Amino acid sequence: MGRIFSGIQPTGNLHLGNYLGAIRNWVLMQKEYESFFCIVDLHALTILPEAPQLQANIRKAAATYLAAGIDPEKSYIFPQSAVAAHCELAWILSCLTPLGWLNRMIQFKEKAGKEKEKANLGLYGYPVLQAADILIYKGTHVPIGEDQKQHVELARDIAGAFNRQYKVDYFKLPEPIILKTAARVMSLRDGSSKMSKSDPSDYSRIHLSDDPDTIALKIRKAKTDPEPIAGNPKAMEKRLEALNLLGIYAALSDQSLEKVCSEFEGVNFSTFKQRLTEKLVSVFNPIRQKMICYLKDPKTIDAILEKGSDKARSLASCHLNEIKDIIGLLKT
Ligand code: TYM
Repeated sequence: MGRIFSGIQPTGNLHLGNYLGAIRNWVLMQKEYESFFCIVDLHALTILPEAPQLQANIRKAAATYLAAGIDPEKSYIFPQSAVAAHCELAWILSCLTPLGWLNRMIQFKEKAGKEKEKANLGLYGYPVLQAADILIYKGTHVPIGEDQKQHVELARDIAGAFNRQYKVDYFKLPEPIILKTAARVMSLRDGSSKMSKSDPSDYSRIHLSDDPDTIALKIRKAKTDPEPIAGNPKAMEKRLEALNLLGIYAALSDQSLEKVCSEFEGVNFSTFKQRLTEKLVSVFNPIRQKMICYLKDPKTIDAILEKGSDKARSLASCHLNEIKDIIGLLKT
């Protein structure tokens, strides 16, 4: 049996991109793999969130995982900061990571923008901590959206560097698992940029916590074009926003984009948007209602996080001791 590790930053309400790119896949994969689903709160520190906000967001992320179908009897849910071994391994791995590898990271370039000199060291070293997240559990499969592929590839490179440096076959190289149908959900306002928690416009994304009226409003306001839907995706290549909405519908209804285009050929977007809203509400409303229940019961959330943390801590500390032995540190 393989072992999954994946995580989401608790930097705001989780959205449709997080759901289709990651969580939905986790729910399916947890049946076949031992699964560790982390709330990567240490990564979230790179944007210096307010303390009460961060604490609330950690519990909200846990409630979202649970409401979306992560089963705490099967899988482990925990905050990254509960397991110190992530940071200890990150230091060890940082000593094996050439700066040149980090300089290639697209996400750092995007997040640091023109202010590279002012960006913090945490943001720069972020992918090394991400590699440690996965490798401390000897994770074999990492279900993610397309934007995280480069980071998982770096984790593979770092794992290989460790094995070569210490002449061992300790780390297996983790596989990124990316679902083709929803690898990159785009903003509802701009089909060329990714749907993201950090977009200043709330209308750019659908949150898993949005009520049906809010979903309907956001979809009504979503950018499209006046042309009707074409019978195949190739004919819509340049209509980015239109294609994004069709892709969301396809992913939510487990159909190919080709099938959705042929089903809606000739239909205009005002009609299609109503169908998309119905689909979104039918998937998200039950999740939202379960989330509300969990959030009213923080003791249950905390107990689930504690159980997940205990399991994660014991596996991570066992691996950390093996790693210490390999590299010449004294075991504890
Ligand atoms: P984060 O918090 O940005 O996103 C969490 C997950 O959601 C996916 N995702 C998307 N998928 C499709 N379309 C989108 N618009 C979209 N937006 C986000 C992401 O690909 C991701 O799978 N660095 C990671 C968190 C992390 C991690 C890890 C992930 C830390 N350590 C170890 C896997 C393994 C991040 O910032 O994800």
